[in-house]
Amino acid sequence: TDVAAIRSALLSWYDREARVLPWRTGPAAGAMGLRSDPYRVWLSEVMLQQTTVPHATPYFLAFTQRWPTVEALAAEQDGELMAAWAGLGYYARARNLLACARAVAGQHGGEFPGTEEGLLALPGVGAYTAAAVAAIAFDRAANVVDGNVERVMARLFAVETPLPDAKPELKRLAGLLVTDERPGDWAQALMDLGATVCKPKAPLCDRCPVEPFCAAKAKGAPETWPRRTKK
Ligand code: ADE
Repeated sequence: TDVAAIRSALLSWYDREARVLPWRTGPAAGAMGLRSDPYRVWLSEVMLQQTTVPHATPYFLAFTQRWPTVEALAAEQDGELMAAWAGLGYYARARNLLACARAVAGQHGGEFPGTEEGLLALPGVGAYTAAAVAAIAFDRAANVVDGNVERVMARLFAVETPLPDAKPELKRLAGLLVTDERPGDWAQALMDLGATVCKPKAPLCDRCPVEPFCAAKAKGAPETWPRRTKK
């Protein structure tokens, strides 16, 4: 299949076009074998589950300045954390954040577990966050699938099953593209592609590194994927 060609096209695009974001180390650090700080990756992924990169970024900067380590966060009062979270919404997540920080600080010596399974056992850490942190902070070959990645897969493979039924199939397809090579960059390359090129309403196919492999583009009207059941 085209797996190797798709991977190499998207990873070289990411090397050129990756967004510079404060929880990323950047390609130079990556090439030196430096990993992003698991605390920063975890915090960013929790924030980004409910909002966009532009909205979450100032919160991320404020949190990491005020609480530079998981131990610092774990020692904070619940009320202080809730106040700092105001504007991000979904407050259950802020409470889970503190429970997780306290578990890492209290039961794991301040070190995040380095596997998906270990991460999943932490309070408030679900399948998406465990996969994202395992891939981005620990370079584990985890299959990181969010809404952006679902849309990219639906188009690349022209999946006709509508959402939400298509979710398992989209996850399976995403898994076919994951390898041991640069899993953190791979996950974030897909997210960047979905956010900046393979956009929901108006995909910028002329700027897409995997356009030659895209089944939806070949069929025409790629913006009509993913399919949805009519209400
Ligand atoms: N959305 C969720 N996680 C992200 C990440 N690590 N980079 C960019 N966008 C994201």
